[in-house]
Amino acid sequence: MSMSELKDTYNRTIDYLRISITDRCNLKCVYCRPKKTLKNFRESEVLTSEEIERIARVAHKHGVRKVRFTGGEPLMRTDITRLISSVKKIGIPDLSLTTNGVMLSGLARDLKKAGLDRVNISLDSLKSERYKAITNGGDIGDVLNAVDAAEKAGFSPVKINVVPIRGFNDDEILAFASLTLDKDYHIRFIEFMPVGCNEIWEREKCIGAAEITDKISALGELSCLEFRGRGPSRNYRIKGAKGIIGVISPVTDHFCNFCNRLRLTADGKLRPCLFSDLEIDIRTPMRNGAPDDEIDRLFCNAVRSKPERHLLDKAASPGKFLRAMSKIGG
Ligand code: GTP
Ligand code: 5AD
Repeated sequence: MSMSELKDTYNRTIDYLRISITDRCNLKCVYCRPKKTLKNFRESEVLTSEEIERIARVAHKHGVRKVRFTGGEPLMRTDITRLISSVKKIGIPDLSLTTNGVMLSGLARDLKKAGLDRVNISLDSLKSERYKAITNGGDIGDVLNAVDAAEKAGFSPVKINVVPIRGFNDDEILAFASLTLDKDYHIRFIEFMPVGCNEIWEREKCIGAAEITDKISALGELSCLEFRGRGPSRNYRIKGAKGIIGVISPVTDHFCNFCNRLRLTADGKLRPCLFSDLEIDIRTPMRNGAPDDEIDRLFCNAVRSKPERHLLDKAASPGKFLRAMSKIGG
């Protein structure tokens, strides 16, 4: 059994697998799901917990050390606790999930007990009416409780993802950044990306990393904490602050040369790049009885077919033909 590092064709080590475990979501954020109703995958199309565990096991064998569950909304799966426990037991040192937080406060302690290490919570406004509008009906109280519950349950660090969109919520960048003054949160600003059937994306609505850090420096001197290293986020601290500001800049400053990840969609396709619809079906062979070495081969093929970089900055209508974000998992 090989436990060695898995390198792609461009010599990047792939050690991070993002697994979308469902495409269903209890919110309908305006920038994430297309306006026209998206059909959810049929239940039979979605990977079972045994199938997910099997793929995670293969990934671990090839050097994956970080697994993140995404969605849709991953907490919509009723077997989430069992799934976490079984994937943690494989020996994944860093097991995390990205959630909208709506269902988190009631589940946080059980998830922690099951072996979850970290949570990233999406929150795009601190104003309750605006939050409701962006999410199509969400209650901000649920998410604020979730942030508290996550801290109390011992998840560390608690990361909060904000997508600033011009004309929607860009007037809240300072309010979000200020949360790091007294709390040990990581507040991460993510450039608004053009991904699949996203009718509202326009270049002007995307607020670039430089503009974000410029704005935030009004709160105090920003020190750069580390070079980007192995993740997409460039991290800063406001002088004297407890928490950290992260800026994720796929649009204005791509980080493909640092990319360490592969994605698995809820319907069982390995996706080497968020911005490319190239996918490798692993579910069909698995359901047709493929032995482990065949699954190994598919996994390694997916790593080898990872493109060098995305071409968002070169495309006339970038991202338009990609699957919706809720089908990829972010
Ligand atoms: P950790 O660093 O492990 O905490 O997580 P993360 O930042 O990789 O995960 P999270 O799900 O919180 O992602 C934050 C944002 O970064 C989301 O909007 C993702 O879509 C975006 N993101 C994550 N990975 C990639 C990537 O490979 N390419 C691009 N363009 N965006 C990514
Ligand atoms: N651009 C940037 N971030 C996005 N997310 C979803 N859609 C987009 C987009 N078009 C974010 C969510 C969540 C993370 C997984 O991806 O807000 O925090």
